[in-house]
Amino acid sequence: MKINNFDYYNPTKVVFGTDIYGRTADLIKEHYTGNKVLITYGGGSIKENGIFQDVMASLNGFEVLEFSGIEANPEFTTLMRAVELVRQENIGFVLAVGGGSVIDGTKFIVSAANYNGDPWDVLVRKEGCVFTSAIPFGTVLTLPATGSEMNSGAVISRSELKEKRTMGGPFAFPKFSLLDPKVVATLPKRQIANGITDAYMHTLEQYLTYPTANLLQERIAEGILATLIEISQNVLTNPGDEKAAGNLMWCATMALNGTLRAGVVYDWSTHMIGHELTALFGIDHARTLAIIAPNLFEVKIENKREKLNQYGQRVFGLNGNCAEQAIQKTREFFESLDIPTSISAYTSDYADAPEIIRQRFVERNWLAMGERVDLTPDEAKSIVEKAI
Ligand code: NZQ
Ligand code: ZN
Repeated sequence: MKINNFDYYNPTKVVFGTDIYGRTADLIKEHYTGNKVLITYGGGSIKENGIFQDVMASLNGFEVLEFSGIEANPEFTTLMRAVELVRQENIGFVLAVGGGSVIDGTKFIVSAANYNGDPWDVLVRKEGCVFTSAIPFGTVLTLPATGSEMNSGAVISRSELKEKRTMGGPFAFPKFSLLDPKVVATLPKRQIANGITDAYMHTLEQYLTYPTANLLQERIAEGILATLIEISQNVLTNPGDEKAAGNLMWCATMALNGTLRAGVVYDWSTHMIGHELTALFGIDHARTLAIIAPNLFEVKIENKREKLNQYGQRVFGLNGNCAEQAIQKTREFFESLDIPTSISAYTSDYADAPEIIRQRFVERNWLAMGERVDLTPDEAKSIVEKAI
């Protein structure tokens, strides 16, 4: 078996550590000679916890405009208002201050602002409709979870259609991202647990497939998983512990910045099914993954048995043929974070969900997913049924 070919490209500059927000202006100036900057953010937590004030202190000399109200699971219609603002004000640089939703929303804003036509066509992959460029942007990360701060993907929702769609491309990398572990202490416990879970699942979906010759990728993935397990209770009970918080932050970034996927096969079907649960019921992104993953692993256990055994042995210290136990340990890990792993813990309106999801996958022609391209819409339906 030989190591698979891969291209690896990641142009985002990461500035990691404490007391770094004073560098924001200089980082912007590396990419932008004008002086009009738009700050994008969510519901206002950044003003309560002081991150906004710290960032603004660095932006003396810039004309700063604000666009607030980007929701968790950012909404197409909200973001389109920001696109208008960017065009009207001729904005040359955007600074996203927030979690995955604000950063993803900003990726959409900066790409759609450069696009002639209806950006929804791009999200639904209408033939010939693609984003090809973006206004430069940077990020100040306030919630370690998605990895959006160092990747070029985004997920955009349109609730009136109950749709959640992905976008991205090489033009959508942040120019820089500021990662200060102190933000973890400002987060509600629920969001810390979500962050651990999302990072864990990003790692698993690029690892729990079948063995390849890319031994380093497997060891890096196992290192991230083991580190998340090691720090999870510390960071939940004492989020001010900068060692635990800093490791969570770097794990979350490393889990989805392109490193793990270089040359390996991956299986994003937990995310694809999970996105439907958010679109249907508004369940937090990470929680949908904890609901779906153990059930998907059980349904596809023969496809994944070798890697499940390796995961059980190397990450949980189990012995021999331990695939079933490894799945159970994964479920227990999520539950130890106070993350319930069944749909009925979040909604009682689940009866039609398995069939709706099956039909959507058929309509989108997602007929064969996963690392072996054999997960069918019928199997997606039975995974959702099992997850109830
Ligand atoms: O609205 P604000 O005030 O910012 O409050 C947010 C929001 O209510 C709050 N929060 C964030 N930082 C905080 C804080 N509250 C207090 N103190 C802070 N320091 O947390 C809530 C959730 O924020 P959100 O950004 O929605 O969370 P997350 O980072 O988990 O992002 C989830 C979104 O990212 C997408 C998901 O689908 C979802 O839409 N994803 C993006 C990916 C990517 N771009 O690569 C990959 C992921 O798999 C994921 O799909
Ligand atoms: Zn995710």
